[in-house]
Amino acid sequence: MAEVVIVADREAAGRLVADEIAGLVRANPQAVLGLATGSTPLPVYEALRTALADVDVSQVRGFALDEYVGIDPAHHESYRSVITREVVEPLGLTPQNINVPSGAVDGIEHAGADYEAKIDAAGGIDLQILGIGTDGHIGFNEPGSSFASRTRVKTLTEQTRSDNARFFASKDEVPMHCITQGLGTILRARHLVLLAFGEGKADAVAAAVEGAVSASMPASAIQLHEHVTVVVDEAAASKL
Ligand code: GLP
Repeated sequence: MAEVVIVADREAAGRLVADEIAGLVRANPQAVLGLATGSTPLPVYEALRTALADVDVSQVRGFALDEYVGIDPAHHESYRSVITREVVEPLGLTPQNINVPSGAVDGIEHAGADYEAKIDAAGGIDLQILGIGTDGHIGFNEPGSSFASRTRVKTLTEQTRSDNARFFASKDEVPMHCITQGLGTILRARHLVLLAFGEGKADAVAAAVEGAVSASMPASAIQLHEHVTVVVDEAAASKL
C-alpha cells in the first residue's frame, strides 16, 4: 500500500522530496537517482538547490526515464537537454554520471538493452521520481504497457503528442516515437516517489493508488511495489 502524503502546495512537495533525496546522498554519496521530466518534478529540482547546497554531489548518479526517438540531443526539448538544463547544471552534478536513454535512430535496436545494462551496472536506482500523465502513463508507458516491460521504443499516443505540442513550434514537430524505461524497470527501483498536482490529475491518482491493478492504468503498477510514496496537493488527492 502506497503511503500518501497530502501537502499544501508544490513548494511543500518539492521540499519534502528534496529533503529525502538529500538524506540519501548524505548517507551514500554515490546514490542513484531516477529522474523524470515534465512540469511536475520541477519543484523538487528547485528545492534540491537548497537541500543539496552543502552536500558533495560530484559522485551522484542519475538515470532519466525516457527520451524522444530521432530528436537531436542538442534540441532544446530533447529530454537530454531538459535534464541538463533543469537538473545537472543547477545542482552541479557531474554530467558523465547522468544517463538518458539514447534516442538516436542509428543503433536504436539495442539502445533499450544498453540502458538496462547501465542501470544494472550502477546497482539499480535508489529513488525514482515519477510524474503521472492524465491517462495514467508513467515515463512514456502508455495504457496497455506490460508490467514486465523494460526499456524499449514505444509509439506516442495522439493524446500525449497533443499534450506535449506546447513545447514545440507545432504538433507536427513532436516526435512519433520515444524510448522509455518499462514498468518492469521502474518497479525495480528501491523507492518510488510519485508526485501529482492539480485537479486534472485527480482521476489518474485515484486510479493509480486505489483502482484495479491493470495494464490499462500503467501507474497502478505502483501497487505492486513495497516502498511507494505518493506526494499530492489537495486537488490531486480530491478523488481518493
Ligand atoms: C510526459 C512525461 C512523463 C510525465 C508526464 C506528465 O509525457 N514523459 O514522465 O509524467 O508527461 O507531465 P507533467 O508533469 O508536465 O504533467
